[in-house]
Amino acid sequence: MRIPFMSGSQEYVARDLTLDDTPAMAELHAGAFARPWSDEEFEALLVQDTVFGYAVRPVASKGKPPIQGFVLARLAAGEAEILTIVVARANRRAGLGRMLMDAVMRHLYTERADALFLEVDESNTAAIGLYRRLGFRDVGRREGYYSAKDGRKSSALVMRSDLR
Ligand SMILES: CC(C)(COP(=O)(O)OP(=O)(O)OC[C@H]1O[C@@H](n2cnc3c(N)ncnc32)[C@H](O)[C@@H]1OP(=O)(O)O)[C@@H](O)C(=O)NCCC(=O)NCCS
Repeated sequence: MRIPFMSGSQEYVARDLTLDDTPAMAELHAGAFARPWSDEEFEALLVQDTVFGYAVRPVASKGKPPIQGFVLARLAAGEAEILTIVVARANRRAGLGRMLMDAVMRHLYTERADALFLEVDESNTAAIGLYRRLGFRDVGRREGYYSAKDGRKSSALVMRSDLR
C-alpha cells in the first residue's frame, strides 16, 4: 500500500513497513520512549504474520529521506492492537500520527476486524488527544504499568475503537 499525504506544502508518503526499516524504527522509538525497543525486537515483530504497519517519509526531488514516523500493529482473531506509534519530534503536529492511524484503521476495515485496542500512559496528552480525536474510548486502566527512567511509575489507559 502507498498512501500520499500533504501537510502544508510538504508532500509525504506512507507505505508498508519492511525489515529494511527496523534500524530507523529503533532510532525513532529510542527518541520517544524510556524503554527503547531494539532493531532486533522490531525485526522479530515484523516477521510475524499477524504484525503489520506503515512508515511515513517526506517526498523529496532527490534521494530517499529517512522515515519520520511509523506505526506497528497486530491483528489476530478479529481483534487488533497498536503495538507502538512514533512521529519524529520535528514533524509532530503535522498530521502524520493521524495519517498513520488512519492507514491502520483502513487496513482493519478491509480485514473486517471487530475492534482496535491500545495502551497509553495516562500522562501522554498528545497520544490521548490523537486517540480521542479518532473516537477511541477508555475501557480500562492498569495501575503503575509504566516506569520512567527516574523510576517513577505511571498508569496505562486501555482504549478501544469499535470497527463495526
Ligand atoms: C502521539 C504522536 C504519535 C502524535 O503524532 P503527531 O503526528 O504529532 O499527531 P497529529 O499531528 O496527527 O495530531 C492529530 C491530533 O492529535 C491530537 N494531538 C496531537 N498532539 C497533541 C498534543 N501535543 N497535545 C494535544 N493534542 C494533540 C490533536 O487532536 C491533533 O489534531 P490537531 O493538530 O488538528 O489539533 C506523537 O506525539 C509522538 O510520536 N509521541 C511520542 C510517542 C508516543 O507517545 N506514542 C504513543 C504511545 S501510546
